Amino acid sequence: MAYDISRRFLLAGATGLSVAGATACASGASALTETTEGAFPPEKVAVENPYLLGPPEGIALLSRNENPYGPAPSALKMIEYAGSKGAYYTSQDAVKLLATMIAERHGVAPEQIAITTGSGEALSAIAMIYGPNGPIVAPRLFWDTTALYAVNLGMATIDRVPLKADMSTDLVAIEAKVTPETGLVQLCNPNNPTGLVAPEAELKAAVKRMAAKTTVLVDEAYMELADDPDANTCIPLIKEGHNVIVSRTFSKIYGMAGIRMGYTISSPEVAKKIQATAMSWSPCTSYAAAIGCYNDEKFISFSKGKVREAREMITTTLDTLGLVYLPSQTNFVYFKSGKPANDVQKAFAAQKISVRGQYMDYVDWTRVSTGKIEDVERFCKALPAIVGA
Ligand SMILES: Cc1ncc(COP(=O)(O)O)c(C=O)c1O
Repeated sequence: MAYDISRRFLLAGATGLSVAGATACASGASALTETTEGAFPPEKVAVENPYLLGPPEGIALLSRNENPYGPAPSALKMIEYAGSKGAYYTSQDAVKLLATMIAERHGVAPEQIAITTGSGEALSAIAMIYGPNGPIVAPRLFWDTTALYAVNLGMATIDRVPLKADMSTDLVAIEAKVTPETGLVQLCNPNNPTGLVAPEAELKAAVKRMAAKTTVLVDEAYMELADDPDANTCIPLIKEGHNVIVSRTFSKIYGMAGIRMGYTISSPEVAKKIQATAMSWSPCTSYAAAIGCYNDEKFISFSKGKVREAREMITTTLDTLGLVYLPSQTNFVYFKSGKPANDVQKAFAAQKISVRGQYMDYVDWTRVSTGKIEDVERFCKALPAIVGA
């Protein structure tokens, strides 16, 4: 049996593989979203990946906002060590060490950190904690998978606020909706799939006012990729005592999407609630990897450099083609191809390039992730013919 598995997964070639297979595997959109379809519907095609993990050979995987240059060597070394201790439940020492490292970096107390199996787990827990209190007020287009988790359990509703004409989050309209009966305000900064960072002063002022009425969650999964994370993060508001939760992940800049590690920063009381609501105990390998690379500045700046290089390749191509795109500060670019996004996705798939399909009714907008430089090159070469330029 073991032989069969290794043959099937490790030796099989890429022949007959569809790019959809790469997209279907671990897309981050759980089966739960099948109940209520939101901005991020699950990919519907399931094709076996004979390589078991990672994209099948020959597939340019540019649909999931991963960092293919990770995990960092500093993380891999620790994963190997953790594997050798895999017989044991994760020690509290490891949990405390990671919480302390995170707290030190952000100038908060370790009790303010909740550590979860990817930030998605914390975000789902938050939706379940606050959803029953009243609607989750959010921009119409945001990474809604975890809010939908609570919706599908009958524990939340989402009050979606239309984006502004420039596709940015309408903070004024969101604030106008917020009352003490609001369960939660959920913002994503930088936002997914737009890649836009909210104007710092306006965001912080609005968040402070809204946090006086209800809890404000700012999902900062991509913040380390932004031009100036220190200026744009809402973590200082937590230190000032505002009712704010910030979530971060090791899935993006740290290149550990498959390893699963994320965290929130909040008041100690809220951190305790999130930790108590989270449903899993993260593997020792995840803790070890996170401890290994959290302060690996060399890897972080290397990754940021690769993302910038790839993003520039994409935007230069879009400029040449005269296509409109949003000024992203993330590892993806949302652009207006002028063609139905699902057709564009299929056309790229025919060339073994995986990009995202349509979000909601944004019919002719496509999201492409930065990835390996050679894969982005393939995207840039294929784009003109696909958009008919
Ligand atoms: C905005 C945003 N937040 C959170 C997540 C979840 O990340 P993870 O659960 O891997 O930490 C994603 C995943 O793509 C995302 O785009």
